[in-house]
Amino acid sequence: TKPKPLFGKTIVMTSGPTHEPIDPVRYIANRSSGKQGHAIAAALARLGATVHLVSGPVTIADPEGVSVVHVESAREMRDAVEQFLPADAAVMVAAVADWRTANEAGEKIKKQPGEVVPVLQMIENPDILAGVGHNKKRPRLVVGFAAETQDLLANARKKLDRKGADWIVANDVSHSSGVMGGDRNAVRIVTRSGVEEWPDMSKEDVAERLAAKIAAALQTIEV
Ligand code: C5P
Repeated sequence: TKPKPLFGKTIVMTSGPTHEPIDPVRYIANRSSGKQGHAIAAALARLGATVHLVSGPVTIADPEGVSVVHVESAREMRDAVEQFLPADAAVMVAAVADWRTANEAGEKIKKQPGEVVPVLQMIENPDILAGVGHNKKRPRLVVGFAAETQDLLANARKKLDRKGADWIVANDVSHSSGVMGGDRNAVRIVTRSGVEEWPDMSKEDVAERLAAKIAAALQTIEV
């Protein structure tokens, strides 16, 4: 058997959406399935890494060989991720809600006949990737994703600096791309030295190739 290139390495990951509560029965969510993030976690584990995956609410199974913590909101996800630092690498794939409701109701909000409809006030959620990228315990390799519907590359480049990431994996999530919830993905890896364009392939193949690239980067002195 071949030696496993990520043996002895610890990697913290996020995957899936977050759910931001409105009241005890309602929440705000997004269309992330967790398929891409979970596939990456499994691929890293196959290369020998100890993978700590913090997953938002998904309907798919836990990836094999991976330790999984299940959370709902962005704040819970951030707290769980911080527990797994220091790590050799962080791969933040979750579609974290940018905003949550400012005032979560303790009881179900009732529909009152004749009353005005409720207005939700939103506040910003913590940026988990930026928190890791600018952390005192920053992993040597920090990888983020950028789901965009327009200006893919320009937005991804801005994210490298703002979030303190080494690589941004940019994917087009326009409805017509079928990426969100689908089984295929066409990504570009944006780094400070350039852009790698990968052809359209299955999310499994993206995961394999990204895991191999991560293994290669962690084997070098500098990333
Ligand atoms: O800014 P944007 O949400 O497009 O950035 C996407 C990247 O940042 C992803 O890697 C995502 O997991 C991460 N992110 C995060 N916490 C947030 C928002 C995004 O970790 N609150």
